Amino acid sequence: MIDLRSDTVTRPTPGMRAAIAAAEVGDEQMGEDPSVNELQERVAALLGQERAIFLPTATMANQIALKLHGRPGDVLIAEEHSHVVIYEFGGAAVHAGLLTVGLSGSGGRLTPEQVRAAASTVEDIVDQRPAVLVLENTHNVAGGRVWPLAEIDDVVAVARAARVGVHMDGARLFNAAVGLGVPPAEIGSRVDTVTVCLSKGLGCPLGACLAGPAELMEVAWREKFLFGGAMRQAGIVAAAALYALDNHVERLAVDHERARRLAEGWHAAGIPVELDRVETNFVQIDTSRLDMPRAEMLSALRAAGVALSPTFGPTHVRAVTHLDLDDADIDRAIEIVSETLVRHAAA
Ligand SMILES: Cc1ncc(COP(=O)(O)O)c(C=O)c1O
Repeated sequence: MIDLRSDTVTRPTPGMRAAIAAAEVGDEQMGEDPSVNELQERVAALLGQERAIFLPTATMANQIALKLHGRPGDVLIAEEHSHVVIYEFGGAAVHAGLLTVGLSGSGGRLTPEQVRAAASTVEDIVDQRPAVLVLENTHNVAGGRVWPLAEIDDVVAVARAARVGVHMDGARLFNAAVGLGVPPAEIGSRVDTVTVCLSKGLGCPLGACLAGPAELMEVAWREKFLFGGAMRQAGIVAAAALYALDNHVERLAVDHERARRLAEGWHAAGIPVELDRVETNFVQIDTSRLDMPRAEMLSALRAAGVALSPTFGPTHVRAVTHLDLDDADIDRAIEIVSETLVRHAAA
């Protein structure tokens, strides 16, 4: 099976497993795990932030960030199809007590005017206070789309003027950095707090980091305990992440090239793929333009040897390239998906 459902399906490589086996470990909760400590320092520096905290998942990192920025009754502003809005089970309300205002984005991005309008509702002490703006980069549901740096600056300036904190859900920030050809700090330093995930394109079995100013991260460290995310010999996993930072960041460019090749191959076969939306490791197919229900299409492709996944909304499916694929898999996926869908159209 050529598994293109997500970049989360990767398994640790032999090199990563060797790094895990050789990991130096200690008690993380006591601040004594050398691998975790090294990882936190490296990630903070990479993201242009003062301090980073190692966490089991990016969801936990986002949820802690929301608590740092807002008090119960405050407002979270985010693009309406952001992970924090649609995939975190209302955690913003459950954990931070935030009311979410979802704005309709383009390519997963918001305009300064939208943010200004959403952030400027406070006129009176009794008005609800917009406390945090979340930017997702790359944006998952939009198809791995990247925020241009100037657009980040524009919305951050509006948020700062309105005294709204800015959190970036950069679960795939390294893809964004490679996509733009800039160091990750060029992106990470532009916002107040930032999540990065280690178990997606970077290929780790699990793990994420939340980074930001030292003072806020002190509070985040306490929240890590409160969420049950304070671990013990977590260096076993941090070692995988250190290995990934050395070996799996620059190669994301290969995933991006493969996604483009996949998109171009399918497009050439007449499959509805919007090429100009392929910016990183995602390719979306608009099944509303195919004469085949989405579920039927996914199972026909699976039977033929390619696994794609539904993405948010009733019509789109996605393919995500990752570390566990090679060029031959991409060629086969172009062939199998094209044949299966074209054969169906002809039937
Ligand atoms: C944009 C984005 N943020 C956060 C997450 C959550 O990651 P995790 O599964 O590590 O909690 C995901 C997972 O797919 C994601 O795509």
